[in-house]
Amino acid sequence: MGGVPTLVLILLMATGAADPLATGLGLLATIIAALLLAWTWTGTLAGLEADLRAAAEGRPAPPRAPLLPVAAGVAESATRLARSLAAREALVARLRRADAAIIEALPDPLLVLAEDRRPLRANAAARRFFGTGTGTGTADTAAFLRHPRIAGAVDRALAEGTAQSAEVMLPVPVSRDLSTQIIPLDPPLADGGRLLVVLADRTQARATERMRADFVTNASHELRTPLASIIGFVETLRGPAAGDPEASTRFLAIIAEQAERMRRLIEDLLGLSRIEVTEHQAPEGEARLDSLARDEAEAMAPILASRNVTLSLDLAPATAVPADPSQLAQVLRNLLENAVRHGREGGTVTLSIRALTAPEGGLPPGVILRVSDDGPGIAREHIPRLTERFYRVDSGRARSAGGTGLGLAIVKHIVSHHRGQLLIESEPGHGAVMRVWLPGR
Ligand SMILES: Nc1ncnc2c1ncn2[C@@H]1O[C@H](COP(=O)(O)OP(=O)(O)O)[C@@H](O)[C@H]1O
Ligand SMILES: [Mg+2]
Repeated sequence: MGGVPTLVLILLMATGAADPLATGLGLLATIIAALLLAWTWTGTLAGLEADLRAAAEGRPAPPRAPLLPVAAGVAESATRLARSLAAREALVARLRRADAAIIEALPDPLLVLAEDRRPLRANAAARRFFGTGTGTGTADTAAFLRHPRIAGAVDRALAEGTAQSAEVMLPVPVSRDLSTQIIPLDPPLADGGRLLVVLADRTQARATERMRADFVTNASHELRTPLASIIGFVETLRGPAAGDPEASTRFLAIIAEQAERMRRLIEDLLGLSRIEVTEHQAPEGEARLDSLARDEAEAMAPILASRNVTLSLDLAPATAVPADPSQLAQVLRNLLENAVRHGREGGTVTLSIRALTAPEGGLPPGVILRVSDDGPGIAREHIPRLTERFYRVDSGRARSAGGTGLGLAIVKHIVSHHRGQLLIESEPGHGAVMRVWLPGR
């Protein structure tokens, strides 16, 4: 700065082309001006540097003398640029946190895999599913990802760049039916996630499907047996036994009995589906259990007589609330019928009803109905399965006793609909005791 004029002045002086005094003064003035200018610019540049550094670090500019207008403009633009970059960075961080939170909160187990198939992240549901508190590298996760069908679907998803699905059965620790979706991510997530693995546990749904299918098979089978017998006897009556009054009477009785069995089965099937329909609405109204019991006991007279069973009643006032009286009448009917049909011929059945005013034997206050018999009872291993549809301890015997195999399934449904409890106890050889606790007073 000032170098060129100085050189010219020195040249002029050296060649003697100008007055040495004037040239000397000019030289001095030029040098002083150059130094002043340099000093101002150095200060401005230092200030600008400080401002830019402050902007980059997100600090306010340090206080100092004002800059030259050009430098001040540069500093201000830089500050603005730094501010908008910081805002964008905060936004990106927020979005990343949001996507992590969404993945974490999704109800289905979800894994994020890297390009090399290493699990990078597992959400809360996946950590629960694979039985681990934190982290992704558990043995179960690794075993799952090694499953040939999952590994194959992962390969295809990476190679083709399209979502793949795979159905697998995991045998340990409990057998589980999984439906898995593998979704490639293009572009990858910020943490390098290349694949989303979403699991849906279909165990419950499959079990329900199987149960429905079994139920239809069982129901059809139960209906087909009496129907085949009716068709057979009708043929006989039309053919070989035609004109034989004695055979006709006998066969017609069998036909009537089989038709009655079909009627009962259809009644029970319809009853079961009616209860299933209302399963999710709580019952309204209330039921005087002792008077319901008296009515049902009276209606039992014919079957009591047919098995020569004595029914002993021990009824204290008790009201179930909230309750559906017709459903509770059905509970009484099914339990009494079982005690008579599966109990001892010529035995005694006891029905007692009372209100529990204080907790008793692990049961809260409410009402309790109890049906006991002095028959053969039920072996311990069968008790948990008695409420399954069509489950019978001795199917031949139970069928000939006139049961449909649905009685206790219906009782259990009604009791759980009333938020009650069904308790079955039996000591083989000493009869069975069925107790139903219901909310009430
Ligand atoms: N009081 C009882 N004593 C002995 N066994 C019983 C008694 N109640 C029920 N059971 C057994 O439970 C099975 C299921 O009962 P339930 O569902 O009512 O069907 P069922 O139509 O055969 O009576 C019966 O087949 C019978 O084996
Ligand atoms: Mg029954």
